[in-house]
Amino acid sequence: MNENVFLNGEYYRGDEAKISVDDRGFLFGDGVYEVIRCYGGNYFKLDEHLARLERSAGKIYITLPYSRDEIRDICLRLLAKSGVKTGKLYMQVTRGIAPRIHEFPEGIIPTVMMKVDGFDEAGIAFSKKGIGVMTFPDERWAHCDIKSLNLLYNVISKQKARSNGAYEAVFVHEVGVTECASSNIFAIMGGKLVTPPEGKRILSGITRDTVLKLAEDAGIPCEMRYPQKDELFKADEVFISNTAQEVSPVLSIDGKTIADGKPGEATLKLQKMFEDEIEKETNFVIGES
Ligand code: PDD
Repeated sequence: MNENVFLNGEYYRGDEAKISVDDRGFLFGDGVYEVIRCYGGNYFKLDEHLARLERSAGKIYITLPYSRDEIRDICLRLLAKSGVKTGKLYMQVTRGIAPRIHEFPEGIIPTVMMKVDGFDEAGIAFSKKGIGVMTFPDERWAHCDIKSLNLLYNVISKQKARSNGAYEAVFVHEVGVTECASSNIFAIMGGKLVTPPEGKRILSGITRDTVLKLAEDAGIPCEMRYPQKDELFKADEVFISNTAQEVSPVLSIDGKTIADGKPGEATLKLQKMFEDEIEKETNFVIGES
């Protein structure tokens, strides 16, 4: 097994790295994270993810112990050491290690952990053909723009969705549909691409951002607003996006078929444009590995 874990300045084989029981990530979920894809030995949107990591850490008053350039170097070195070509990097920064008190302990040094793993291509080939989703009330905290380790409601909702035969959980807030347990949501309605606005109710996805730029290139008008749940049932197309699964068509919501139950034209176009963007940045051609 190659070294595929970085922990506080050292590289380890996955099963050798050890984290203290006093780490505040473990005790309180007091930290932030990123998930970054790599294709054919190159990262996709690495700098965008590192910028968001800095923003998330800043919002919970963690100062990263490495500069952006140092973190980028570690990511690159770890990928090379791991030998993984197509997979994902999970990066977690916690406030650090100290005996358990709620307030921030003085002089604490953040824990930085990264792990690279190969990717289960079969899983995403499945979701990219089209999925069913299930709705849940959005009962998360009001700072969903922070990519925080606290994912309890997301985890429980996703599990309930899976137990009911759906792939992803969609959150419905008073303001409308916000996002999903681990992805952003889009609908094509009346020729427009509708997606919730950036703000505290959603994680501003790196994939979402790319999709919006591609939609602009494709001449698809975009509208940033929260769609209502009943609007989604009547939408021409619905899809979700995230780093792991890229663009996935939504074919049913709560067991009700969307449009004709097949991936829509605009969704397939954006999915293809997204794959082309991956190829442009990483030289990796999806489906030819
Ligand atoms: N999740 N919204 C939520 C709540 C998320 O957890 C994610 C990503 C996204 C999409 O963000 P991006 O396009 O940057 O991946 C939106 C990651 C993949 C995860 O937790 O595993």
